[in-house]
Amino acid sequence: MKERILGNGLKVSAVGLGCMGFSHAYGEPTEKKEAVRLIQKAADMGYTFFDTAEVYGTPADPHQNEVLVGEALKGRRDQVVIATKFGIHFDESSPRVNNPLVPDSRPEVIRSSVEASLKRLGTDHIDLYYQHRPDPLIPVEEVAGVMADLIKEGKITHWGLSEAEESTIRRAHAVCPVTAIQNRYSMMARWHEDLFPVLEELHIGYVAFSPLANGFLSAKYSRDTKFDGSADYRSVMPQFVPEGIEQNGALLQLLYRMAEEKEATPAQISLAWMLCKKPYLVPIPGTRKTERMKENKASAEILLTLEKVRSIDQALDNMEMSAVFGGTETVNKKVRNYA
Ligand SMILES: NC(=O)c1ccc[n+]([C@@H]2O[C@H](COP(=O)([O-])OP(=O)(O)OC[C@H]3O[C@@H](n4cnc5c(N)ncnc54)[C@H](OP(=O)(O)O)[C@@H]3O)[C@@H](O)[C@H]2O)c1
Repeated sequence: MKERILGNGLKVSAVGLGCMGFSHAYGEPTEKKEAVRLIQKAADMGYTFFDTAEVYGTPADPHQNEVLVGEALKGRRDQVVIATKFGIHFDESSPRVNNPLVPDSRPEVIRSSVEASLKRLGTDHIDLYYQHRPDPLIPVEEVAGVMADLIKEGKITHWGLSEAEESTIRRAHAVCPVTAIQNRYSMMARWHEDLFPVLEELHIGYVAFSPLANGFLSAKYSRDTKFDGSADYRSVMPQFVPEGIEQNGALLQLLYRMAEEKEATPAQISLAWMLCKKPYLVPIPGTRKTERMKENKASAEILLTLEKVRSIDQALDNMEMSAVFGGTETVNKKVRNYA
């Protein structure tokens, strides 16, 4: 697969594999052996960039995803880039399918997280370690200081921020250079585009999570698709409810039209649109199907001119669209009442 560079030198496949869905948020987790086999299939077909987090799992097996990724990639550790994340846990007391997130980036918590992640991943270093969400109680300079120490100790080689805004990125980068941000980005979620000039100025990559708007932009879902309300976040996502699907008619038409023009699929057009927009944008679509891994990988071969990308942007700016899932609520505990 084609490659891209994040920050000052982290080489990754142009399309990465988001591994979250094997364990978390999209219904029942995949059986362990099968998940390991599928992640290995992705590596066989040229994916070298794998995204996980310490919190991707279920209440019964809360860190399962890192174990799967570690197990799948152990024979080829030096050929792949493993990205994982620290700094949140879920508020399990919530009755909601998507439990609120509680940020916690206290240095001692990061220290214990990194050791546990290294163990679960079966490795002596993490290639890209993200703060999963900013912690309003811990200045980002303090987090960046811990990252600098972890880099010196060889436990991580690069670091990044997820769902970060400009001032946080600038403050963090001034203490310890940031390799990539990982923010939501898709044809339905373009609100971070104002970060592009900042990322260009500081040479920071943009890893785009939920690049298919949680699958919606593949155009494979309809009013009749049912999601498990107890384990599948899509059951509460506004783009998948019947009214949402109706409001997104023009978007789906645009995708069908472009797909026909380029002899591609709507999912491929959605990914090619961002890949052709900026050379430092790297989408990490999640899928549990090998055919879709192949399909998503091939999006890196589709060429859309900048003029075409701009005309798609313009069409997106001017069309009616439903709301899109913007992420699980973050609960900022004013006083830490947990150990
Ligand atoms: N930093 C953060 O806070 C954060 C938040 C969310 C996600 N992430 C990361 O980003 C990754 C991707 O995000 P995401 O999984 O939320 O959303 P996504 O990649 O936009 O969509 C994933 C969904 O799309 C479906 N899909 C994928 N490729 C497809 C194709 N070619 N055709 C039809 N359907 C397709 C998958 O279903 P099937 O499995 O059935 O194919 C899956 O349900 C995650 O795995 C995770 O690593 C990070």
